Order: sequence, then structure tokens, then C-alpha cells
Amino acid sequence: MHWNVALRSAGLWVILSLAAGQLTEQEKSTIIDLHNELRSKVQPSATFMQKVVWDEALRVVAEAYAAKCIWDHNPQLEELSMGENLFVGTGTFNATKALLDWFGEHVDYDFETNNCPEDKMCGHYTQMVWADSNRIGCATHSCDTLEGLDFKKATLLVCDYYPTMCSKTLYNTTWTVIQYLLCYKMQLSIIWAHIQIL
Ligand SMILES: *[C@@H]1O[C@H](CO)[C@@H](O)[C@H](O)[C@H]1NC(C)=O
Ligand SMILES: *[C@@H]1O[C@H](CO)[C@@H](O)[C@H](O)[C@H]1NC(C)=O
Repeated sequence: MHWNVALRSAGLWVILSLAAGQLTEQEKSTIIDLHNELRSKVQPSATFMQKVVWDEALRVVAEAYAAKCIWDHNPQLEELSMGENLFVGTGTFNATKALLDWFGEHVDYDFETNNCPEDKMCGHYTQMVWADSNRIGCATHSCDTLEGLDFKKATLLVCDYYPTMCSKTLYNTTWTVIQYLLCYKMQLSIIWAHIQIL
């Protein structure tokens, strides 16, 4: 009797996690390893680039948001000092393909102006390579339909990045390091001001 209940709930759990389309440990490693590999390959080469690590708190935020099946960014990004990349696809989900798709935008990105032509996208690429965004948490969700996109039975990938307070900082100038230190010093002084008020 007890076994029966346990087995049934275990079965239900498997069905629920499949329905949610959760990332496997293998996929999580692929996401981190490939980010680091691609970050090490930027052109011009980086002199100031942090290694990224997986972050469970970001994964939780990404998972809750992915479950909403909305093809648009989480409106709380700025409030949470987070950046976000989204990918949607039908068929078998392939994390490598999603990341290479984002990174592929580098062909339209101009390092000197830190921008791309108006009719092109480069925001996914720049989010992947911001020097200060060193924590990533991602989640997938199987969506029957999506709000804002005419896709059926698609897998939505949400990757959240932290921090982005000092992003838009380029990654290979001496100025970047100074800019970065100044930016974080400013953040620290804000934190300090709060502590003093408290
Ligand atoms: C996933 O996509 C990558 C890049 O397009 C490809 O090389 C790889 O074979 C794909 N993996 C699977 C299991 O389809
Ligand atoms: C970045 O570094 C590369 C070589 O490491 C150099 O050629 C390039 O001029 C640098 N770019 C800037 C903007 O400093």
C-alpha cells in the first residue's frame, strides 16, 4: 500500500519533470563549458574576462519564468540586476545549438562601437561575453503554445545572467578594468550607504 503510493508519486514526478522539460546535468555542463569556451574565443582577444559558473538561484528564477511560456524578457530583469537570453525551438532540444545561435550574432557586432546595425541583433552575443556577468542559471520548459510567438509544442530556454550592473564594459581595455572597478566601487558605496542608514 505504502509502496504503491510511493511508486505512483515517483511515476508522477517523472512525468511532471519530463513535461517541464528540465535541463539534464549534462546540458547544464554543456551550457557552462561552452560559455567559457566561447568567452575565451572573442575577437579581439580578451584581457579581462571572467570565467562563468552555474548559479542555482538564477536557475530557479529562470525556471519560474520559463514556465510562463512567454516569448519576451522577464520584466523584473533590471530590478534583479540580471541579463537574459531566450531561445525557442521545436523538435529535440539541443543546448549547443541554442548557444551557437546566440554566439553567431558576433558576425554583426562591431567591437569598436560596441553595437550592430539596426536591422541585426547582437544582444545575445554581448550578454554571453560581458566581462562582469560571471554567474548563469538556465531552465527549459516545454510549451504547448507561447505568448507572443506562433510556435506549437516548443521548448523554451531561458538563461539568466548576473550581475549586469557593470556590463556594457568591454573586455580588453585597460579602461575596462578601471571602469569596472569604478562601477563596483560605486555599487559598494551604495551598499555602504544603506548599511550606514540601517
Ligand atoms: C546539437 O547541435 C550541435 C551544433 O549544431 C551539433 O553539432 C550536434 O550534433 C547536435 N547534437 C545532437 C544530439 O543533435
Ligand atoms: C584588444 O586586444 C587586441 C589584441 O589582444 C588588440 O589588437 C586590440 O587593439 C584591443 N582592442 C582595444 C579596443 O583595446
